Amino acid sequence: MFHWLEKNPFLFSVGVFIVIAFAGLIEILPNFAEAARPIKGLKPYTVLQLAGKEVYKKDNCIACHSQLIRPFKAETDRYGQYSLSGEYAYDRPFLWGSKRTGPDLHRVGNYRTPDWHANHMWNPKSVVPDSIMPAYKHQFKNIADTETAYAEAVTVKKVFNTPYGPEIAPGKAAYEKYYKSILLPEAMKIAKAMKNKDVEAMVKQGKVPEIVALIAYLEKLK
Ligand code: HEC
Repeated sequence: MFHWLEKNPFLFSVGVFIVIAFAGLIEILPNFAEAARPIKGLKPYTVLQLAGKEVYKKDNCIACHSQLIRPFKAETDRYGQYSLSGEYAYDRPFLWGSKRTGPDLHRVGNYRTPDWHANHMWNPKSVVPDSIMPAYKHQFKNIADTETAYAEAVTVKKVFNTPYGPEIAPGKAAYEKYYKSILLPEAMKIAKAMKNKDVEAMVKQGKVPEIVALIAYLEKLK
């Protein structure tokens, strides 16, 4: 019946393209349905957590760690529930990664604590004797860039309608108010849970070292 089509390579190619494009659309379109993302109960990152995400990117944790648990028994036994696309709704960009020199971190907040992270980031071998992970001592000294993180929150609230409350608003004054009344108390909670007096003293002076932001971010990964 379709011999005439098979004899015309151009029309045949067009036909193949249409069939494949149609099948592709049927596969892709459901992913754009709003209901698929974000998952119920998902909260956007706080500014402190966003600043921590920047530390994660800057110090290239993604070179050795993934954040994507695949639906295989070996992975769910080890890390917990496999990752769902709606969990990444507020991730810009995603930090899925593709290399696992170290373990997946997508749910690390479920089984590690701030004081464990603090010891581990200062000297991985102190808690995991065979660890080959590098130490990140500079994070205890460098100040986290919370101002840029705040600007990021303001931007995604405006551009992507990320559901932040009125506390995220443009302007230096809004930032300073947020810093004092929301960010510093949040940082203090982490610093206390890290059980590190030096870090606690820094936060008391109004300075937030990178390690506090990073741990706030790691704690959010659940
Ligand atoms: C050169 C590779 C490498 C880099 C870069 C790296 N890690 Fe690791 N990481 C590892 C390895 C290997 C382990 C497993 C041994 C251990 O726990 O120390 C690990 C373990 C961890 C764990 C414990 C996870 C668990 O389930 O026990 C955390 C948390 C972690 N890394 C966070 C980070 C963060 C945050 C960064 C970036 C600041 C980072 N890592 C950078 C290799 C790396």
